Amino acid sequence: MKSYRVAIIGCGPRGTAIAQGYAAHPRTEVVALCDLRPDHRDRLAAALGVAACYADLDQMMAVERPDIVVIATGTEFHYDLCLRVLEYGAHIDVEKPLCTNLEEADRLLAAANSRGVCLAVHHQSRLGPPLQAVRRAIAAGQIGEVRALIANDKGYYGGYGLMNLATHLINNFLALAGRCQGVSAVATVAGRPITPEDVVVAPGGMGIVAGERITAMLDFPAGVVATVMCHHLPRADALAHGIEILGTTGRILWKTTDAWWLPVPHHAPDGTHDQWQPLPAILPEGYDPARGAYPDEYAFADEMVRAIEEGREHDCSGAEAHHVLEVLMGILESAAYGRRVPLPQTRRDHPLLRWRHEAGLGDPEPRSRDYDAWIAEEDARLGR
Ligand SMILES: NC(=O)c1ccc[n+]([C@@H]2O[C@H](COP(=O)([O-])OP(=O)(O)OC[C@H]3O[C@@H](n4cnc5c(N)ncnc54)[C@H](O)[C@@H]3O)[C@@H](O)[C@H]2O)c1
Repeated sequence: MKSYRVAIIGCGPRGTAIAQGYAAHPRTEVVALCDLRPDHRDRLAAALGVAACYADLDQMMAVERPDIVVIATGTEFHYDLCLRVLEYGAHIDVEKPLCTNLEEADRLLAAANSRGVCLAVHHQSRLGPPLQAVRRAIAAGQIGEVRALIANDKGYYGGYGLMNLATHLINNFLALAGRCQGVSAVATVAGRPITPEDVVVAPGGMGIVAGERITAMLDFPAGVVATVMCHHLPRADALAHGIEILGTTGRILWKTTDAWWLPVPHHAPDGTHDQWQPLPAILPEGYDPARGAYPDEYAFADEMVRAIEEGREHDCSGAEAHHVLEVLMGILESAAYGRRVPLPQTRRDHPLLRWRHEAGLGDPEPRSRDYDAWIAEEDARLGR
């Protein structure tokens, strides 16, 4: 059986975790690494025993001819790098979010479709053992009909958390509730509604954002609703990150590492109505922990192979990630203009830049990319 040749662009923490998933899979082989930073490249090369290392992606593509290319660089580089890789006709596994605005997302999806390649966006938690257990429990009717989803990110600055972690949460909403029909959101800075002056360049290459606390309600078919909260907390906390799923006869609590089921619809901490039970994790077929990959990363690689061979979309497809970006931009537009935004939106320009320009302001000034430095700048801007 064919073994797929995989190349990694961006050998930082994410490129490393993803590469380990492909290296552990019997049908994929990591054959080449590309990074502008020799230290990142060399560390991963030594860990995986890969000899072919590059600083230039065109050189790597021309020599190595990989079947699958992982793009695990900062988000602001995804768009250009995806377009360049598509020129070579390779399948793409790109980190989330797909890119930072709808105009780029539209062009990327069209380019991938015209090339007929598989474009997957790395929402690995969707394929991870806890969410697989959740999906199976819902399909088995363990909580009746899903009626609402409630999610929190880790407590980053709201707009940054929205683009960074809420992309995963919203992608998981789509897996559980279908396509989003519209969004309504509020966003505040220092306890007051956002103004066009609060539109800023996000840290970490996450594009243009606004809002220290963002709360959004998403409506789905069959009357299902979802609330996502990206609220800046004094200290970011991974435990805050998760989704509670309310069914007509029970509940489920999903975290990235575990999931629990409550077999009654309502709960109180009274010893009778709070009988949460662990949902046994569903590991991917063929997964061997001794091979050094996380199960969700192995599952992502496995789904990539299956999607290519079956000529179908990856479960975390570019089309789904494109819709996630419509939701994200819809949330920012709704928070700015104070009205529900039906999806898909007809206007594809960035809603916050539009809002600023309508207020007679230019584009926001560049800011630090580093999160902590960025927060210090934001505190100074707000006089704190
Ligand atoms: N899926 C997840 O759970 C998850 C978690 C954290 C971050 N992310 C996403 O992963 C991405 C990268 O995150 P990270 O923390 O590893 O970033 P990072 O900045 O630490 O690493 C990115 C690497 O890409 C390299 N790079 C940048 N431009 C390049 C180019 N043109 N050619 C070759 N190499 C290049 C950098 O030198 C660096 O080594 C971001 O998009 C982020 O949103 C995803």
